Amino acid sequence: MKILHTSFECHPIAKAGGLADVVSALPKYQLALDVESLVVMPFYKNLFTDKNKLKNMGNGTINLNGVEFKYFIEKINSEEIPYSVCLVRIDNLIDTEHIYGYEDEKERYIAFQKALLDWLLKCNLTFDVIHCHDHHTSLIPFFINYCNEYIKLKDMATVLTIHNAQYQGQFSHDYINLLPDFSIENIGLLDWDGFVNPLAAGIKCATRINTVSPTYMEELKENACGLEGLLQSESNKFSGILNGIDTCIWNPETDRLLLRNYKISNVTSGKRANKLALCKKYGFNKDLPLFGFIGRLVYEKSADLLTDVVKEVLLKNKNCNILILGSGYEEIEKEITKLKKEFKGNFHSYIGFDEELSHLIYAGVDFLLMPSRIEPCGLNQMYSLRYGTIPIVRRTGGLKDTVIDIGDGGFGICHERASVWDITYSIYRAIDLYKNQKIFRKIQKQIMKIDNSWSKSAKKYIDLYKSI
Ligand code: GLC
Repeated sequence: MKILHTSFECHPIAKAGGLADVVSALPKYQLALDVESLVVMPFYKNLFTDKNKLKNMGNGTINLNGVEFKYFIEKINSEEIPYSVCLVRIDNLIDTEHIYGYEDEKERYIAFQKALLDWLLKCNLTFDVIHCHDHHTSLIPFFINYCNEYIKLKDMATVLTIHNAQYQGQFSHDYINLLPDFSIENIGLLDWDGFVNPLAAGIKCATRINTVSPTYMEELKENACGLEGLLQSESNKFSGILNGIDTCIWNPETDRLLLRNYKISNVTSGKRANKLALCKKYGFNKDLPLFGFIGRLVYEKSADLLTDVVKEVLLKNKNCNILILGSGYEEIEKEITKLKKEFKGNFHSYIGFDEELSHLIYAGVDFLLMPSRIEPCGLNQMYSLRYGTIPIVRRTGGLKDTVIDIGDGGFGICHERASVWDITYSIYRAIDLYKNQKIFRKIQKQIMKIDNSWSKSAKKYIDLYKSI
């Protein structure tokens, strides 16, 4: 079986969040099951593309609202990636340093999809399934089924995976000329609520759609930022497949970014060494429980509640330390940064994205906070489990599917609401648990044994491909 994965992120080439980890790991695990993948993503001007060799695989031109753009398809050769990856480059359009945050996003997304399909046609490339990830590539099912230019590709089945339904890529009908020609009677397939909505179009036109956890699938039918009715009506082709983690990269026994490697048998001393490194770096007392938060500082992740949580916990009770790593809304970043002065010795934050530090935090903290309002799947709780770090999560989306509360015979700490009180109360429960080192250590060992690798879910995707 041959699958074409198409996405705007893939680790280690370009990463903004969990999407990159999934698109990187899934083809790798599928390869082990004899499914061949090609990942096609945009070219970014970054360290990775700079240090690895690129081989030209073709070029051509696309038309964007009357303007011709030349595209180049470059295959990237890296020992770090066991499957093929091709990058689409269009000078002055798809050759940026960063992934998101540009004013011409819709032009970039549309141009990318056009160039990819044009290349498939030119080179006569066929796949059993085109697997699109998120709204950036979700116009492909419409393009190949309803646009004359690409209609020859319509025999290929399509799967759309929704990693996050908050982002739908809507734009005004005024920009309709950016799209390839199609018969106006099909405009309804693109439209949702008076806008061209790429995610909605993907939901309507893809052969199958899925999201990244069973609970998030159910949640989306009730609340999907306006798309709930559509998801209900398309529910016969909608499923929830839980993400996995790449246990080759995320392995405390071999992870080169840790200060000390460890396994289940020496988890206590191993984690202590990594915790000590963090405590030294940030001036924390090593004997107190250490809590970490890693993630985007946005409303979805309840990052706006963190400042009050830190104040509530540290003003009343100085018996723990808290460390935050992430970036996001400027206002939240500012509030969090202010706390460093106020709670010096008990609180620290690093505003930014630092892959290396994140690994050390998974290994070195005692508890990981994930109070997300919305969490389609969440990978951090799975990384933390593998590193013997107890997750504290809100019961939502994939967090609900992967973490069971200690009170229910499980191994984590769960709360219902995204409120300062619920999070604070969970932290107090964790501090109590930490005092009972015998149970605490038993749970550390227990969670490291949980198998959250891609093995199971990669098979589920293959079953999905086979069914179409
Ligand atoms: C998005 C979601 C996250 C999920 C990831 C990978 O980033 O917010 O919950 O784990 O995609 O599917």
